[in-house]
Amino acid sequence: MTTLKLRDGDLMPAVGLGTWQAEKGVVAEAVYMAVKNGYRHVDCAAIYGNEKEVGEAFKRIFDEGIVKREELWVTSKLWCDRHERGEVIPALEETLADLGLDYLDLYLVHWPIAFKKGVSFPEEPSVFFAPDEVPITETWAGMEDVKEAGMAKHVGVSNFSPARLENLVKVAERCGPEVNQVECHPFLQQGELLKVCEKHGVILTGYSPLGSGKGGSGDAPDLFEDAVLKEVGEAHGVSAAQVALAWGVGRGCSVIPKSTDEGRQKQNLAAGDVVLTDEEMGRIGAVDAGYRYIDGTFFCGEGSPYSIDWLWEGGDLG
Ligand code: A2P
Repeated sequence: MTTLKLRDGDLMPAVGLGTWQAEKGVVAEAVYMAVKNGYRHVDCAAIYGNEKEVGEAFKRIFDEGIVKREELWVTSKLWCDRHERGEVIPALEETLADLGLDYLDLYLVHWPIAFKKGVSFPEEPSVFFAPDEVPITETWAGMEDVKEAGMAKHVGVSNFSPARLENLVKVAERCGPEVNQVECHPFLQQGELLKVCEKHGVILTGYSPLGSGKGGSGDAPDLFEDAVLKEVGEAHGVSAAQVALAWGVGRGCSVIPKSTDEGRQKQNLAAGDVVLTDEEMGRIGAVDAGYRYIDGTFFCGEGSPYSIDWLWEGGDLG
């Protein structure tokens, strides 16, 4: 199994199981099957609304002795309504209680966007905090607190632009971000961000590495129909989906494909061992379209203090 080295030498399995949009009633079985079939990395988040069910699967896995806690890499994420420094430890305590764990391997700031406590998704401008009301530097101090307390072995961010990541690295006092989890796949290759990550020893984890079921939009481009991915797949006897994942791992990134289907889970895990040639990596490099399935517009409606430019191009820490 391919692993990626964090700055302190700890190893993260390159292929993890995504649990976003894995519904209650299905997700526990999906996580159980995945770990039974060899997955050692599970990606969670409080906002996915399914951490209790994921925790039931972990309990079953540990009770049956399939793996020990220390053999599993578990990530979760701080939601945008808990960005005030004093909220970070309590939010993580809730996640740990739901997951039935006493520490995480990795805790991430889910978005560089803050809103009021108790809000799941902002439906009106008044629920947002402007960037300078709860600066990311304040939230980051809370993340350093959880690392110091041993509640998370590693801390990082998600959905951070290249400039924002660079600025956070510069000002972080006790621990810089160790991971930036962003949308990444052959249609959104994140080349500039990957360079910033490499410069600072930050691991880039790609979410929606398979295009997130086309992001729910019928008009969105279909990764699985891309001619280059299909051709490369034929050469290796694997699917276009597996090529997309092998390409991510081949660039030194981790990938967290979501599947609740046992066969597709197995395919996705096996993709981590498919080695593409330099020529194939180059051909896939040319299909980049800068296309976001998850474009963040849901945070940037009329009256919001955040804009799409601020989110993806800006470097402001508030
Ligand atoms: P399912 O859960 O039924 O397998 P992403 O990881 O980019 O968010 O994409 C997840 C979507 O891709 C889900 O709709 C998932 O459906 C589907 N999917 C996951 N693995 C594969 C695969 N190997 N081949 C085709 N579709 C897949």
